[in-house]
Amino acid sequence: MGQNVFISGADRGLGFALTKIMVENNWNVFAGAYMPQWTELKELAEIHPINLKIIPLDVSADASVKKAAELVSKSTDIIDMIINNAGISGYDKDIKIKGSQDFNEIQKIYNTNSIGPIRVIEAFLPLIDKSKVKRLCFVSSEAGSINAAQRDAWYGYCMSKAALNMGVKILFNRLRPEGYTFRLYHPGWIQTYMSGKKNTEADFDPDRAALNAIAYFMSKRCNKELENEEDRLVMRDWKGSEWPW
Ligand SMILES: NC(=O)c1ccc[n+]([C@@H]2O[C@H](COP(=O)([O-])OP(=O)(O)OC[C@H]3O[C@@H](n4cnc5c(N)ncnc54)[C@H](OP(=O)(O)O)[C@@H]3O)[C@@H](O)[C@H]2O)c1
Repeated sequence: MGQNVFISGADRGLGFALTKIMVENNWNVFAGAYMPQWTELKELAEIHPINLKIIPLDVSADASVKKAAELVSKSTDIIDMIINNAGISGYDKDIKIKGSQDFNEIQKIYNTNSIGPIRVIEAFLPLIDKSKVKRLCFVSSEAGSINAAQRDAWYGYCMSKAALNMGVKILFNRLRPEGYTFRLYHPGWIQTYMSGKKNTEADFDPDRAALNAIAYFMSKRCNKELENEEDRLVMRDWKGSEWPW
């Protein structure tokens, strides 16, 4: 597996835990930072000044994403792995159709969760193209599964993750023939900050969730008895179970 990874949404939650574990395992990590007021990432960079670089990044803004790629390209010609992790859940979780939807908020979620990762891949493609690994990872969610959907609210988040999955499928159709490999992933319910404050009730602490995610992101999906699994795009969770689209 490669040496250079770019991770979005690395300030806290799953993204920070991914960053910490990968840096500690000698990856060169370019960590997309969105929250200058949050200090954990800066403290980690002080401990690992050589192999952790903080890159300002707002995945919802074209100029920010382009600038991030330019900044990374001043340090390296090659990115081996991209982890599209940044995401927001919005506050519309319980607003049903007889309530009053906040459509501006829904558009913001869509811009971040669905379009954000496509922006990132477009901007970083010249750097990934030079890698032999070419691994594109996307943190999606069970909430994006249309067949498994049971909720009667949370339009913004659920629709945004379904749209992300479609975006990844279109990327897959174009880039798989060029040797790119894909990991589309549901990380489980994590004790992170998606609701604005730290969730202490969820199933996984961020470190455990990150270890599970890294195991899948770095796994081989080739099985001699099967066709090359890399040629089939799937969404899997931390147990390795496949989710319906
Ligand atoms: N937590 C769960 O149970 C769960 C379950 C399934 C999937 N996921 C997915 O896991 C991923 C990581 O989420 P998390 O649980 O670690 O949440 P988190 O603790 O909120 O971390 C997400 C990070 O992304 C940042 N971010 C927000 N908007 C951004 C933007 N426009 N550009 C760049 N960064 C931005 C967040 O900043 P702010 O805090 O300022 O927004 C935050 O630092 C997300 O894609 C999420 O959908 C999470």
